[in-house]
Amino acid sequence: MTKKVAVVTGSAGGLGRGIAERLLKDGFSVMIHDINKEALAETEKEIKAAGYEDVASFAGDVSKKEDQVALVAAAVQKFGQLNVFVNNAGIEAVTPFLKIDEKELERTFKINVFGTVYGTQAAAEQFIKQGTSGKIINACSIAGHEAYEVLGTYSATKHAVKAFTHVAAKELASKHITVNAYCPGVAKTKMWDRIDAEMVKADPSLKPGEPFAKFSGEIALGRYETPTDVANLVHFLASEDSDYITGQAILVDGGLVYK
Ligand SMILES: NC(=O)c1ccc[n+]([C@@H]2O[C@H](COP(=O)([O-])OP(=O)(O)OC[C@H]3O[C@@H](n4cnc5c(N)ncnc54)[C@H](O)[C@@H]3O)[C@@H](O)[C@H]2O)c1
Repeated sequence: MTKKVAVVTGSAGGLGRGIAERLLKDGFSVMIHDINKEALAETEKEIKAAGYEDVASFAGDVSKKEDQVALVAAAVQKFGQLNVFVNNAGIEAVTPFLKIDEKELERTFKINVFGTVYGTQAAAEQFIKQGTSGKIINACSIAGHEAYEVLGTYSATKHAVKAFTHVAAKELASKHITVNAYCPGVAKTKMWDRIDAEMVKADPSLKPGEPFAKFSGEIALGRYETPTDVANLVHFLASEDSDYITGQAILVDGGLVYK
């Protein structure tokens, strides 16, 4: 039987890498992808050294539609088809509201929102061309359900990701394409290292590590999130067990936001 094929954007590190590794373990062929070519090549090397052969990499920028189309084409050329597309790549923005500027708005919306739309379109076009069902899985956030101080732009982009998840799910359901999102809470990746540093910069009364400790200290299950916690949900959303679920933005945050 042909192996199912998944693409995970922004998977040179952090949550994306955890997701890619889990899908490989689940038996998918996986195209990893990132804008950071060096990190991507290193990650591919490490994953192959761990014994996974059905992995390949493709460098690109999710905010460019042509890159997303080329990513899907590369996955299909390498592995023969596409079954799951994970719009994982995203960036943070940490700025007090009165200081948010055009540059930040453009950059964050282009990567988090435009990127998710272009990835969804490219994947859906491929599923329709194949005449098969397909699964699109988007990175949302607790910030797609709540809006946080100094994370205004980021929260707005993740609310937009949630809205596009709902609309794409409604419009693509007749083609047997499901669209869902995972909403992590506080995971200790490079993204949170940068958020912590920026929050300290914005409020000099804070010491390095304090913003992360404050946010993760509120988690009901008493510990911060790991890439495995997120990958466990994405594994389910990529599997046949989630076939009857679409248009959902599911929280995976250890008990932080209750929606
Ligand atoms: N870390 C958390 O606590 C957390 C919480 C909620 C949601 N998320 C979301 O999960 C996703 C992954 O977060 P993470 O913590 O692993 O982040 P990260 O910064 O650790 O990793 C993100 C990866 O995406 C890549 N990337 C950035 N811009 C790109 C672009 N334009 N095109 C292609 N690749 C690009 C980066 O090079 C990096 O390898 C993001 O969408 C983020 O918003 C993270």
